[in-house]
Amino acid sequence: MDIAKLKEEIETHGQSHLLKFWEDLTPEQQKFLYEDIKSIDLAEINRFYKAATDSIQNTELIDDSMEHIPSEQFGSVTRDGKKISMWAEEGLKRISLGKVCVLLLAGGQGTRLGVKYPKGMYDVGLPSKKTLYQLQAERILKLQRLANQKTGNNGEVPWYIMTSEHTLKPTKEFFEKHDYFGLKKENVIMFEQQMLPCLSNDGKIIMDEKWKIARAPDGNGGLYRALGKCKIIEDMERRGIKYLHVYCVDNILVKMADPAFIGFCLSKGANCGAKVVEKAFPTEPVGVVCKVRGKYQVVEYSEITLKTAEKRNEDGRLTFSAGNICNHFLTLDFVKQVVNENEVFLRHHVAKKKIPFIDENGERMTPEKPNGMKLEKFVFDVFEFSSEFAVFEVLREDEFSPLKNSNKAEKDNPTTAKHALLSLHHRYILNAGGMIQDPDGTLIPAIPSRKASEADSYPVVCEISPLLSYAGEGLEQICNQRKFTPPVLLTEKILEDYEDKGETLLCNNI
Ligand code: UTP
Repeated sequence: MDIAKLKEEIETHGQSHLLKFWEDLTPEQQKFLYEDIKSIDLAEINRFYKAATDSIQNTELIDDSMEHIPSEQFGSVTRDGKKISMWAEEGLKRISLGKVCVLLLAGGQGTRLGVKYPKGMYDVGLPSKKTLYQLQAERILKLQRLANQKTGNNGEVPWYIMTSEHTLKPTKEFFEKHDYFGLKKENVIMFEQQMLPCLSNDGKIIMDEKWKIARAPDGNGGLYRALGKCKIIEDMERRGIKYLHVYCVDNILVKMADPAFIGFCLSKGANCGAKVVEKAFPTEPVGVVCKVRGKYQVVEYSEITLKTAEKRNEDGRLTFSAGNICNHFLTLDFVKQVVNENEVFLRHHVAKKKIPFIDENGERMTPEKPNGMKLEKFVFDVFEFSSEFAVFEVLREDEFSPLKNSNKAEKDNPTTAKHALLSLHHRYILNAGGMIQDPDGTLIPAIPSRKASEADSYPVVCEISPLLSYAGEGLEQICNQRKFTPPVLLTEKILEDYEDKGETLLCNNI
């Protein structure tokens, strides 16, 4: 260890406090800290800090430069009804040929949810007790089967999972413990994103311990650097992948590699696409996908005036209504372009956070207010590099319910996520001709009266295993003209039992 040289280096970059407690450390701790500091490109960190903080100061309202999405690049599950099945068929075809993979962003720290393990391992309290990871794995399995049934081809959908220092080990162990939920182990590929030092508001690297630098993952846009560094692109090429579906771990309703979305993006010749939901009201705090000075991007609600947020088209819809749900289609060619050419131009965003730190006296403090920042890139910041972009609007109640917070918060919590899934599955049963009844035989209306919807029994407890139905399809045989008494759990086993026992079987009432 050349301490004199290291001291000089950190001084040059304005970070001399990093060795303040050097003399207090054991030889092992000294070795750890030495390597910890050496692993950082200090000049690069200072550059990232400057670019990120400069851009906050230069934030200008961009209202006048915003344009809505051209109608020829826009599709909607509600307004393009007839085309949906055609798009889905095309998507299934590509899936069956092994050209599609899913890529999960699972490197976040999940601080708002507040559990010590990765968010994907969370069970929101469904009757089946399935975790987010299990639901997603089973959707992939079912999709592979659907594509096979449709075409006779046996294409597989590899699942790439981006983790970080905090989430890699527990995620790996969890998948191993559960035997990859029935997927082939070689088709579940985990890789790790980069960690960056956390910084104080004046750009000093924060110490987590006297011998250790505080670090955080570099945001979900760290994906592009990680794809290059971890040789994931080569792996995709080897498997013949052409299209990626990229999504966040926390959306309990996520349709993995949604064939209709893939088919839609292909029909538009897009190399990059975003699935969106209609913004619920003008001041809803979501980013909207739109064009700014001719390039696609996500504009945050803080970047526009109320007047722009409230602007409406002739048909009464909000002009900027394409709410970003972090659910994207990318061609592998586009990903390669981003990794090789554009990634270096992605700038970090500043996320102000409460970061535990070692104070001047060497005491570890846990702040009550944000005391520093994490530097994060965003996965959607690559939209601007796409020449062929497309936007696909889906229904929020069918496809988007993120698990962000604990139940202490009012929204986006385990209860709202559970309810969203149960009520979607209730609708699947009704759409397949089923009925739901109370224990005394009274039919429960499809749309509950206001009073009923506030009762404890709502939403109706109906869960359908993804192994039985990916998105409501194929349920008629089981549901048509049948009455179910909640709680209901329909699994793939019911189909086998149904074939064995015929009419006598109703459902797995639990
Ligand atoms: P969020 O921005 O909601 O962050 O991530 P989070 O880490 O899950 O939760 P908080 O903010 O600490 O409470 C959206 C998605 O991006 C992934 C997350 O795992 C989630 O799927 N993500 C976030 C990463 O993969 N890497 C990151 O560095 C940050």
